[in-house]
Amino acid sequence: AQSTELAGQHWVITAGPTMEAIDPVRFISNHSSGKMGYALASAAASKGAKVTLVSGPTQIPPPHDVKLVRIQSAQEMLYACRAAMANGADVFIGAAAVADFRMKDISDQKMKKTDDSNEMTLTLVKNPDIIATLASEKSAQCMVGFAAETNNVLQYAKGKLERKGLDLIIANDVSRQDIGFNNDQNQVTVLSKDQQWTPPKDAKTELAKALVQIIFDYQHTQK
Ligand code: PMT
Repeated sequence: AQSTELAGQHWVITAGPTMEAIDPVRFISNHSSGKMGYALASAAASKGAKVTLVSGPTQIPPPHDVKLVRIQSAQEMLYACRAAMANGADVFIGAAAVADFRMKDISDQKMKKTDDSNEMTLTLVKNPDIIATLASEKSAQCMVGFAAETNNVLQYAKGKLERKGLDLIIANDVSRQDIGFNNDQNQVTVLSKDQQWTPPKDAKTELAKALVQIIFDYQHTQK
């Protein structure tokens, strides 16, 4: 249902994969569909927040009442988030699956296969850590990350919470076939430095509402 609990707040949310060019016809990317981030954007907007959704390439129609900014690479995602938060933001949620590496040099021309070698080596360099950079710049009052993990899920998530300087981290077990990347359903655990919430497994559209409520309640305990 429409509500106005978040009226006056600005939420910036990332979604989808990033796409890192190799040459004019090839790229490096991942299986993120954008469903989780788009659901969060819709849930925050339906509670009255002004929402900017910074999205990598997805097949999802733009949500209502959300400002959609489309990008491809991680570097473009960082610039778009900074621009969106130039006047501050209340909440940032990093639901995007950002490529950790990009090509050192993108080839201007289509790379050719040669007859003399069966191997090809691509040299990659690290992408900026978008959420850690934004957290260090204090871009939003409440910084919320996701941690996509296949093992030691809560322990690794807690490490990312601390290392990236976040307020909350949403631990997502992406080894399971029934949740996570590209599924309609998801199950997560939200961690702060001293609390933990586990909303029930549900459709991403429903889970997103529960997550927005947890973030909203957390903001209020911090005031
Ligand atoms: O898009 P869907 O198909 O609906 O799937 C949802 C999801 C599984 C992609 C989503 O729930 C999720 O877990 N997103 C985070 C994926 C990820 O890249 O996690 P990570 O553990 O590698 O990164 C940790 C956090 O740092 C994330 O908030 C990520 O956005 C951020 N990050 C990572 C690398 C980087 N260079 N910059 C970042 O900001």
